[in-house]
Amino acid sequence: MTFNPLQERGIPLDRQLRNWRELDMAPIDPDRADSYTRCRIITMNGIEVEAVLFSHHFSRHCTDPEVRQQLAETRYIEAQQQKVVNWLLPGLASVLETTIAYEQVAVDLTAWVARMEPDPYLKQAYQFGVLEDFDHLYRYANLYEMIEHRKAEKIVDQLAEVMPGRPTKFHHRHPIDNLREPYDKDSTDPLSKLHALTIMAAEQQTMNFYMNVGPGYMEPIARQLYQEIGLIEEEHVTHYESLVDPGETWWEQLVNHEYNECYMYYSFMETESDPRIKSIWELHLNMELEHLRIAADLMRRHGGRDPQEVVAPRLPAPVTFEPNKAYLRELIATQVDYTTFGTGYVQEAHERFQRWQEAIHGGEEPPSERVIDDERAISGEEYRLQTDGPHPVPSLRRH
Ligand SMILES: [Fe+2]
Ligand SMILES: [Fe+2]
Ligand SMILES: [Fe+2]
Ligand SMILES: [Fe+2]
Repeated sequence: MTFNPLQERGIPLDRQLRNWRELDMAPIDPDRADSYTRCRIITMNGIEVEAVLFSHHFSRHCTDPEVRQQLAETRYIEAQQQKVVNWLLPGLASVLETTIAYEQVAVDLTAWVARMEPDPYLKQAYQFGVLEDFDHLYRYANLYEMIEHRKAEKIVDQLAEVMPGRPTKFHHRHPIDNLREPYDKDSTDPLSKLHALTIMAAEQQTMNFYMNVGPGYMEPIARQLYQEIGLIEEEHVTHYESLVDPGETWWEQLVNHEYNECYMYYSFMETESDPRIKSIWELHLNMELEHLRIAADLMRRHGGRDPQEVVAPRLPAPVTFEPNKAYLRELIATQVDYTTFGTGYVQEAHERFQRWQEAIHGGEEPPSERVIDDERAISGEEYRLQTDGPHPVPSLRRH
């Protein structure tokens, strides 16, 4: 495969605007759609939301009126893309069903990235984070059975397992321990830049989602669980965004964002099972090629660099949604008791971690523990979906 997005021609920007009829796409059927189609929609919404927010931040720091006009024009198209993509989700799905799908994305997208990441320090960051979203999936799946009387396999199919990862109560760390060491923009593999942007965007969308939907519940345990996990998503955004080299210029960041959008749409065009959705990924890829050309042009004119020095000469292998069950079991077996200390990882609970834990828990069990206890009390058993045998850690087996 030799697809070089810098050399492909896309749709001219003045032909990218869509009218109401073209924006009004039918949503997927929640009962028939491929579980991974939903995952791809959620991922691309996160990418588009980041494209819009990044462009706003850039504009707020930009003094050149012509550049601001160019950013505004492209950003409006990004906003249309976001509407088309996110509106593919069916209104029939409950907030909790969407939540479970968000955590499924965090699990299988991050696991894929961890497997493909060439840099060992960055790989460790993804391996660390994925075990936490894996546990969130389990906590929300129990809330789902408790308040909606349905099972999470309706959403994740049999593609992901639902069982404890690193227990959520141990995710609450001192904020300074959530900052990692950034990659070096000039020596890192270009693929590493794409990975970091993608996971950062996915976690940011999850953080924003819980911020807004959490108080929409009436059940106290639901409101409390969204507060608790919402705070961990803040930690995750801090963790992943700190991997990106803060020394990248605005022009470099813009090129990386547009290049990553090309990469992600290309990936999903190549792997999509639903032909109607595939044609949307293809259309958006053709729009992104033009965004990238514009960004590359801005970089040449204002940033004094050639974009070819910044990005890969061709796209890496497509990002693929597929089961990662054995990989996750291996990580759980070896890294479940990790925490962070400064920019590194340790297996012992250190003083700063203990202090934070005592302060936030206030001598009580957090919502993420109570949701499991409540579900056991109501149904006699907590909800799990273990398709590949008993839990790899004996102390986390059913009791
Ligand atoms: Fe976009
Ligand atoms: Fe999560
Ligand atoms: Fe997360
Ligand atoms: Fe774009």
